[in-house]
Amino acid sequence: MNYENIIVETRGKVGLITLNRPKALNALNDTLIDEIGAAFDGFEADENVGCIVITGSEKAFAAGADIGAMAGWNFMDVYKANYISRNWDRIPRCRKPVIAAVAGFALGGGCELAMMCDMIYAADTAKFGQPEIKLGILPGAGGTQRLPRAVGKAKAMDMCLTARFIDAQEAERAGLVARIIPADKLLEETLAAAETIAGFSLPVVMMIKESVNRAYESSLQEGLLFERRTFHSAFALADQKEGMAAFVEKRKPAFRDS
Ligand code: CAA
Repeated sequence: MNYENIIVETRGKVGLITLNRPKALNALNDTLIDEIGAAFDGFEADENVGCIVITGSEKAFAAGADIGAMAGWNFMDVYKANYISRNWDRIPRCRKPVIAAVAGFALGGGCELAMMCDMIYAADTAKFGQPEIKLGILPGAGGTQRLPRAVGKAKAMDMCLTARFIDAQEAERAGLVARIIPADKLLEETLAAAETIAGFSLPVVMMIKESVNRAYESSLQEGLLFERRTFHSAFALADQKEGMAAFVEKRKPAFRDS
């Protein structure tokens, strides 16, 4: 596939997607989101890829959904197209882990795209916000849902209702980002973490992702049961035998993703 709005490459065992609409600060149009979906299909099918990283530019991860494209739409346009759900849903459906490496602006749909990933690594230049209210709309790709789960109700209300941006430090304190990295090391450090993840047993990595996500979608008892059953099933893997044998024999494990 020829990509117009993103750059897709593989670095070691990591699938890397770079959002690439610099003139529009990586504003997310339909084509770009379709392209991310196609890249995800490729990475999920590629047995060599164990982790995916999405990043943007120094100035912007993404400044939101494309306002120019949306400006002329009416209710039936967005309702009929089920706008935002149709192709954006591909991102949280990905079964391999996805890290957002965010420098500069992550606003509106850009912040929502980052939150659809499994974790956010932020450059010290990152700024997060849900400024849709200034455009006479509300967040439409999870901003009112994933943000309160990440930062709590008070800060989510504050950000969505006042359109205030938060910086990387505030985002880390609030639990939105996993790490802050100096901007010039963002990609290097994110790729290194992704390569570490990709070096573990892929089925175990996928089970952990599935199990942590259960914490958001079920009661504690349901989640604990899901975790325990998944834990039991890990004992069916050759990688469990290998991982434990390697520990006992004081050597590095050689996982085979089976
Ligand atoms: N859509 C389309 N184009 C955008 C854009 C967006 N979301 N954000 C920035 N751009 C474009 C600008 O129009 C500008 O294009 P031109 O050079 O052709 O005029 C270019 O990117 C550079 O932007 P600025 O000149 O504005 O750059 P700045 O440094 O002065 O400001 C900014 C940066 C604060 C991010 C500002 O661009 C801005 O406020 N952008 C809009 C942010 C926003 O409201 N995002 C929410 C969108 S709605 C949404 O996402 C809905 C949803 O929930 C999915």
